[in-house]
Amino acid sequence: MSVLFQTVINTGKLYSYRNLTKTISSCSCVLVRKISDVPRKFITFDEVVAARRAEARRSLVVQVNSEGSFSELHSYCSKYADIKGIHHYKNISEEHFMLIEFNTEENLKDVLQNCCSHQKDIDVMSLQSPFLWFRAAPGNKDKQMASCSASLVTKDGSSFPSEDTLFEELMGAATVSDQIQLLYDRTKLNDLSVRLRYLVAREVEIVMGSLYANVEVRPFGSSVNGFGRMGCDLDLVLSNVLTDEMTDPSKRLVFQEKRGGGGSGPLELCAGALELRVAGARRVQRILHARVPIVKFAHHHADIDCDLCHANMSGVYMSELLHLVGGLDGRGGGGAALVFAVRRWAAAAALTAAAPGRWITNFPLTLLVLFFLQQGPQPLLPTVRYLVQKAEKEDIRKAEDNLNCTFLRDANKLPLSAYSQNDASLETLLLQFFEFYAQFDFQGKAVSLNEGAAIRKPNALPLYIVNPLEQSMNVSRNVSYEECERLKLEVRNAAWQLEAALETGKTDDWGLLGLIEKKTTRGLKKLLRVGNSHRLVSVKDLFTNDEEQPSSIKDKLEKLGKKSDRDSKTVREVAVTTGDKKERIKFKNSQVASEVYRIRRDKMI
Ligand code: GTP
Ligand code: MG
Repeated sequence: MSVLFQTVINTGKLYSYRNLTKTISSCSCVLVRKISDVPRKFITFDEVVAARRAEARRSLVVQVNSEGSFSELHSYCSKYADIKGIHHYKNISEEHFMLIEFNTEENLKDVLQNCCSHQKDIDVMSLQSPFLWFRAAPGNKDKQMASCSASLVTKDGSSFPSEDTLFEELMGAATVSDQIQLLYDRTKLNDLSVRLRYLVAREVEIVMGSLYANVEVRPFGSSVNGFGRMGCDLDLVLSNVLTDEMTDPSKRLVFQEKRGGGGSGPLELCAGALELRVAGARRVQRILHARVPIVKFAHHHADIDCDLCHANMSGVYMSELLHLVGGLDGRGGGGAALVFAVRRWAAAAALTAAAPGRWITNFPLTLLVLFFLQQGPQPLLPTVRYLVQKAEKEDIRKAEDNLNCTFLRDANKLPLSAYSQNDASLETLLLQFFEFYAQFDFQGKAVSLNEGAAIRKPNALPLYIVNPLEQSMNVSRNVSYEECERLKLEVRNAAWQLEAALETGKTDDWGLLGLIEKKTTRGLKKLLRVGNSHRLVSVKDLFTNDEEQPSSIKDKLEKLGKKSDRDSKTVREVAVTTGDKKERIKFKNSQVASEVYRIRRDKMI
């Protein structure tokens, strides 16, 4: 596979040729493409999906004892097939897994032929799936052969920085733009997570493929549209694929069919199959009477929460549109970085929530950002109408109910003048985003990415964001009046807060930090923050006091604060004088103790 293709598959995003040789992990700098830069090669959504699906078809996930099982597993599998790479990860239960990619699909078949199903004495129906486990070798035979020169491609690939570590890094960034880029680089879906998502889809497809001749299971939504963060849910769609051959009228022998097997039937069957036939599927939940019926489940081995729907190709085409538009903005992930910052801000301001309800969700929020990028005399993004106008014959797509989802798929065919004429920094764009919506006439206007302009609202719903693929629909129809008012208020607050932060310079919650820190915990965090860092003193660390507990955290910190004005003799065990009484507070380690002493008094509420 070419370097170009590999890079794009790894990231799902575009990079300029000059950036192609950089690995994903090295992309921590802000990549702002200037108009003078070399034009980029756009990899279409279909190309990315085809490559990922092929990759999944030659991959397996094997549960192992530990990361140290690598050599043994590698040498065992190498007996049967050529290995392209092995990626290690842990799930939430700290169980270890290795995702093995073989060179070809044939290689994988050879390996599968040498897998066994179950132990003789256990009565289970055998199940072939891409998720396996590695049995200990009898008599340590393989261990002797286990020395291999290869090494893991990825180690602990599902881990991502804790909130404290992330905030610490954001604290140390040089500019707000760097903070925004850093947030994106540290939290976006990584290559292994994308591989796992396609493997879960493959597993469901194999099971359903044993019941139907023409099914396909594909990921859509943020897992594939370029706006996914580590840990996001996996949206899957089960589709009926009808090939020309299957519907060839010249063929006279026709299969008898089961009538009434459509509707939510396949989804119900799939829920049953998930419960009975998919080893990793847990907590299967049928939500079949919703507007879009879904089956929810958690995939234990891949550590992913999944929503499976049926016959919803418009969702896939929407993901394709977002992939296209998100890849166009000319800043190598900058548009996505802006979306990440806005999503984090919205979550912190409790505008979005994990459960659906009368509030805005990430998808319409993303559309709000993309709409903003279409604004101004030098818009970063073209209108959807323009993309539809530029569509060619091969771009024609019809979703269910004959919904026309035709738009230009290959951005290489777009003239550069259609986008990317703006070199504004991410910091400026974020501020402008808040200012734009602080002044937006939500009451009278609807957001239309098709027109790239606010249009008259067709009805009185509080928030109206036109569905770009189905213009008679509002993707934010669920948003209540109160929630829309809160959105208006919060964008105004954010604009004010960011502007003030840019003027005052670096404080302990400078730039993006003040915007993405959860409001509910902000007071407590401020109280517990250590010195100028964003690391928090854990309550456990603070209170290892074997004499007397003070009445509150505030009391304790105040006492520590008073003490910090003076020199302390010992950092590990510290005498704190309160009136006549002397308390000894023990800290787990001296660093925590000394950092606590650096807390300034004005930080203690
Ligand atoms: P997160 O899961 O929050 O990371 O974002 P997401 O983009 O995956 O959103 P969500 O899981 O809510 O929805 C999955 C996909 O379904 C979206 O990306 C859209 O493509 C599509 N979708 C969501 N809401 C709507 C809607 O109201 N109308 C239509 N047509 N599609 C929607
Ligand atoms: Mg999703």
